[in-house]
Amino acid sequence: YTITVDPQGEGAEIADTMYGVFFEDINRAADGGLYAELVQNRSFEYSTADNASYAPLTSWTVGGTAEVVNDDGRLNERNRNYLALGAGSSVTNSGYNTGIRVEEGERYDFSVWARTRSAGTLTVTLKDAVGELAKARRVAVKGDWAKYTATFTASRTSNRGRLTVASSGTAALDMVSLFPRDTYKNQPNGLRKDLAERIAALEPGFVRFPGGCLVNTGSMEDYSEASGWQRRRSYQWKDTVGPVEERATNANFWGYNQSYGLGYYEYFRFAEDVGAMPLPVVPALVTGCGQNRATEDPALLKRHIQDTLDLIEFANGPATSTWGRVRAGMGHPEPFGLTHIGVGNEENLPREFFARFQQFRAAVEAKYPDITVISNSGPDDSGTTFDTAWQLNREGDVDMVDEHYYNSPQWFLQNNDRYDSYDRNGPKVFLGEYASQDNAWKNGLAEAAFMTGLERNADIVELASYAPLLANEDYVQWRPDMIWFNNRASWGSAGYEVQKLFMTNVGDRVVPSEASTTPDVSGPITGAVGLSTWATSAAYDDVRVTSADGTSLLSDDFSGDASKWTHSGGGSWSVQDGQYLQTDEAAENTLVTAGDPAWKDYDLHVRATKKAGK
Ligand code: AHR
Repeated sequence: YTITVDPQGEGAEIADTMYGVFFEDINRAADGGLYAELVQNRSFEYSTADNASYAPLTSWTVGGTAEVVNDDGRLNERNRNYLALGAGSSVTNSGYNTGIRVEEGERYDFSVWARTRSAGTLTVTLKDAVGELAKARRVAVKGDWAKYTATFTASRTSNRGRLTVASSGTAALDMVSLFPRDTYKNQPNGLRKDLAERIAALEPGFVRFPGGCLVNTGSMEDYSEASGWQRRRSYQWKDTVGPVEERATNANFWGYNQSYGLGYYEYFRFAEDVGAMPLPVVPALVTGCGQNRATEDPALLKRHIQDTLDLIEFANGPATSTWGRVRAGMGHPEPFGLTHIGVGNEENLPREFFARFQQFRAAVEAKYPDITVISNSGPDDSGTTFDTAWQLNREGDVDMVDEHYYNSPQWFLQNNDRYDSYDRNGPKVFLGEYASQDNAWKNGLAEAAFMTGLERNADIVELASYAPLLANEDYVQWRPDMIWFNNRASWGSAGYEVQKLFMTNVGDRVVPSEASTTPDVSGPITGAVGLSTWATSAAYDDVRVTSADGTSLLSDDFSGDASKWTHSGGGSWSVQDGQYLQTDEAAENTLVTAGDPAWKDYDLHVRATKKAGK
């Protein structure tokens, strides 16, 4: 069929900020992910309140005697637990995934808060099963709580490191930390470089954070002295700023503990470092995500509205203002330039949500008329809740509405025209979360097709972000995800490549076009299975292509026959033991099936062993 393009035509303008990322602390995206801390459960706060399988010593093993204590001797009111270590005893941390990852020649900063009655020595070691990974450090400790530091230089690369702290005398320990010196943009309390760089490579126009369901669920619970410092699932930005040892930890909605080491200051800083607009989301005091509650407590609502105003002051206020001073004290006297804020996420009760949203909006507009307050449309792409939410948003003259949907690839193909008929006089759309339901090539293709529809309607769809952004392969609560990782590597899905293609090639204006016919999108997508940028091959061998459950696709589905696969570069290429592909240094990193296998859902996982010295 024919596509007719009108080069002189005036299509919609596309803002540089149109495509962004949505970071939610789901799938261990923060601790054990983007937040570069290598010690898991560093402040001994894991609890069955986070997850039935957790205890304060999760990820620690004890040699000798040690007990987690919660009493008046604690480091501070927010950091409830500490470890009482017996004389001559030790504790060892196993990190995330297979262990603590260290790279030969790289430096690692150890720190600990300690309290002792008499002078003593802490011996800190980094080892794996093979032996020492760095020269042991001795730290002299004495007296009341104080922070002690030491630096390691790794003598060997390992994915299975263990950090051990041994004490000569009795000692209380808290905030046992090991940080790579080499963080993204060398920021202190910073971010894991490969993951941050992978996100930065998308050139995001905005960063939406910190959720998702993380934001609104449990938002009516409190975390205060009055409530006995019980954990609650509500994410409140004030818990996440200031010195890390004074930040609360919390039960994460997704079933683990979150340290808040990656908190609001770090989110704003990250958005700035990747050149993106920060877009925080605060709870509207109406739950969603399987919960149907709305607060009837005016004092609680008032406090959250005030917290929202304080958040804007934290981001934009002068360094002399109350919250601007906190920001400046953390190292950023200049404002972060916040222009948009989201209130609420996927509320199931549209009327209750909108009544409370209006109060947030009125308060923000009265004090900060230049800030865009973004509303919500509930959890679905259509239906009664969605229609009611949109009607209220339209009648209320809202600036922008956040929509979310996760659907089949067919749905994305069939709904390319979704926004063609949206009311041009109504609220703008923030497509805050979307993905077609898998990480296969066909999903990327369907998303790309759908994104042409977003772009064609850039006059109404002002912002769009795929979701979720990150997943640690060993702690998955939600799939598909854009970027996958473990403790030593990260890799983009087909969806990542599609996002990157669009995000790094944002045009200024849509060039109007017309197709002579509409393709038939009623059936499944068929064709060759393509897989690209799956390893920077020059540095790898033993490349394996497996399905999600670890089954080798080559042996199971292609009978170990390498001739059914081609790769785009030179070099040698063979199937080893019917199990995996062996490439040499010259082999390129694009893999496409030579034939046209019967369609099947492939969730391709690629593993490669990094060659020594590369
Ligand atoms: O992106 C994962 C979840 O999907 C988000 O937390 C929520 O907003 C949506 O339901």
